[in-house]
Amino acid sequence: MEITACTAADVALLDRYMGSPGRTSFHARRFARQEAGECTCLVAWLDGRPVGHTEMRWIGCADADVRAARPGCPEIGGLAVWPEELRSRGIGTALVRAAEGLARERGLNVVGIGVAKDNPRAAALYARLGYRSLTDYLDRYSYEDADGTIRECVDPCTFLVRDLP
Ligand SMILES: CC(C)(COP(=O)(O)OP(=O)(O)OC[C@H]1O[C@@H](n2cnc3c(N)ncnc32)[C@H](O)[C@@H]1OP(=O)(O)O)[C@@H](O)C(=O)NCCC(=O)NCCS
Repeated sequence: MEITACTAADVALLDRYMGSPGRTSFHARRFARQEAGECTCLVAWLDGRPVGHTEMRWIGCADADVRAARPGCPEIGGLAVWPEELRSRGIGTALVRAAEGLARERGLNVVGIGVAKDNPRAAALYARLGYRSLTDYLDRYSYEDADGTIRECVDPCTFLVRDLP
């Protein structure tokens, strides 16, 4: 398994193997954010296929109260491993550690990650990786479903932080 920064050529492969339901490519929108300097997208590869991804959002959490609670903290977001049978083999951990490495390269000493209240397995993973609760917040986001309808979501979440050694 290797982890690389996402390139323009990777977007089509991500759509093919880790596609999103809507007509607008989730990966293309994320890559556009990388091109704008807002984030760095990471892709995990196994046998030439993308099997995981995350993004390091240099601009931090979208919630202003979270940003105020820990100014300058970047956010690891959109972490996923697919297909499901490849989970619990360390790919998610490797993506988180790679994102932390990017933060270190920028001279940052803290990294954050938001986790939904109804995702205790992910919360358990982040606790094992050294993340501790900073504050609760409401994660507001939208996505396009298979019919092309934009769905607005509000998820109760906890923002976790890890001080980098
Ligand atoms: C969370 C996720 C990225 C972890 O990736 P991973 O490659 O399975 O992670 P690792 O192998 O490094 O660690 C496995 C641990 O992740 C946690 N985990 C969380 N959700 C999981 C899931 N759906 N399946 C398997 N493990 C999961 C468990 O604590 C697991 O430990 P265990 O194997 O002892 O049960 C992956 O499970 C996933 O894509 N889940 C669905 C999307 C998601 O919930 N993303 C997180 C948003 S905050």
